[in-house]
Amino acid sequence: MERLKGKRAVVTGGAQGIGAAIARRLASEGARVAVLDLNGEGAAALLPAPHIGLACDVADSVSVDRAFADIRAAMGGIDILVNNAGRGSAPGDGMDRYYAAQAEQAAGGKVFADQTLYCEDEGWDGVLNITLNGVFRCTRAAVRLMAAEGVGGSIINIASTSAANGVGPVPYCTAKAAVIGMTRAMARELADRGIRVNAINPGAVETPIYAGLPDELKQSLANESLLKRLAQPDEIGGAAAFLASEDASFATGSTITVNGGAYFI
Ligand SMILES: NC(=O)c1ccc[n+]([C@@H]2O[C@H](COP(=O)([O-])OP(=O)(O)OC[C@H]3O[C@@H](n4cnc5c(N)ncnc54)[C@H](O)[C@@H]3O)[C@@H](O)[C@H]2O)c1
Repeated sequence: MERLKGKRAVVTGGAQGIGAAIARRLASEGARVAVLDLNGEGAAALLPAPHIGLACDVADSVSVDRAFADIRAAMGGIDILVNNAGRGSAPGDGMDRYYAAQAEQAAGGKVFADQTLYCEDEGWDGVLNITLNGVFRCTRAAVRLMAAEGVGGSIINIASTSAANGVGPVPYCTAKAAVIGMTRAMARELADRGIRVNAINPGAVETPIYAGLPDELKQSLANESLLKRLAQPDEIGGAAAFLASEDASFATGSTITVNGGAYFI
């Protein structure tokens, strides 16, 4: 299937995991892809020319604007943006205290397993600056290019089921819920320009962040889904390719949940 033939796509956080699967899937459907990642070497190595890979820190406006200027020089503009880069935790966000309290709880006794008491500004900002503000920065840069060409486009934000069920670190759940709000507001704002904006809420996806988890924890996460397994990254890639393509020409402001039926929203 070449649903994206002639389209130019940008995928953030594309050097590994879900972002890499999305980049490969968009390329396999005919798009020319620019992979952006903190890991510039990994981004450059993901796909052969004419695809490109660049170092970019979505937490830094200068880095984002430079990357999009380089993309414009290399590809002329963009038609598709996938905001995938995200971070669940950051130093100073109190998660170390949370895990320690959980372990004490498991050992018996009354212990409060909360994060908020111990989350410093540094930890809060460390998660939101990538997971929320990074989405805004990249979307702003992409929309400037799309508006300059006047050809419309498709923006896809990788949120999380944590946006809806509140399972996960507090700053992460907050950022992902805000990404859904941004998706809806921008869908309204950008519709007249022919730019569609949608989100995907993945459930638990087997990416490198799961590599270090104990097997029992992976199994319990898998058992939460009706399908009794973790998702594979390309299963999110398939949803992204759909939203990027004309098959989703009437979809904007929507959120596709890909969580194996872990719960319904
Ligand atoms: N894996 C899951 O179960 C799961 C579930 C729901 C949502 N998500 C979301 O999917 C996205 C990808 O998750 P993943 O599991 O593939 O993560 P991952 O950690 O395997 O990969 C993330 C990639 O983003 C890059 N990155 C990190 N910070 C960056 C920055 N500041 N600028 C540019 N690149 C940066 C990393 O270098 C890495 O290549 C994230 O937004 C995550 O919150 C993941």
